[in-house]
Amino acid sequence: MDSLALGADLEPEPVVDAHSAVTLYVNGEATTLTVDHRTTVLETLRESFGLTGAKKGCDHGQCGACTVLVDGRRVNSCLLLAVAQNGATITTVEGLADGESLHPVQRAFVERDALQCGFCTPGQICSAVGMLREAADGHPSHATEPDSPVVLDADEIRERMSGNLCRCGAYPRIVEAIEDVIE
Ligand code: FES
Ligand code: FES
Repeated sequence: MDSLALGADLEPEPVVDAHSAVTLYVNGEATTLTVDHRTTVLETLRESFGLTGAKKGCDHGQCGACTVLVDGRRVNSCLLLAVAQNGATITTVEGLADGESLHPVQRAFVERDALQCGFCTPGQICSAVGMLREAADGHPSHATEPDSPVVLDADEIRERMSGNLCRCGAYPRIVEAIEDVIE
């Protein structure tokens, strides 16, 4: 009996509804939308909300270009499924400024000229905002001395920002910008 004949006896696959409604609080505004279960937060932000600050660099959680804040914590939005974030508060780089007033991290990046092409910059800025909060909350990194308080020196900043790659190599200015904010 050939494989086609075998297949003829199989039951048809049941149709599964692969869409659900989710409510996301994006940059202070609640929105309910229907998402395909395979859609990431990054794709939802860019394609459904028109928020194109977060970038799709690798789409594999390796470059950090897609970094946003979810419930105050930095995440790689390319790795999160939107359907799993029902009720989450999401802040993108577009939501950091207070009206015309830039967030201190944004201002420091501008003043330090901490970018070249700018592709990684929204992710770098969101990551820095989340990182500063993590450090303020006392979370250690691999660069933190055991049983010591967190001191955000250049080594700590580089370690904590190591998930955000910059193909232009703007790292020295990025570290300086973050140091400015800390001061
Ligand atoms: S696009 Fe998400 S980590 Fe690279
Ligand atoms: S400024 Fe070009 S990738 Fe970072």
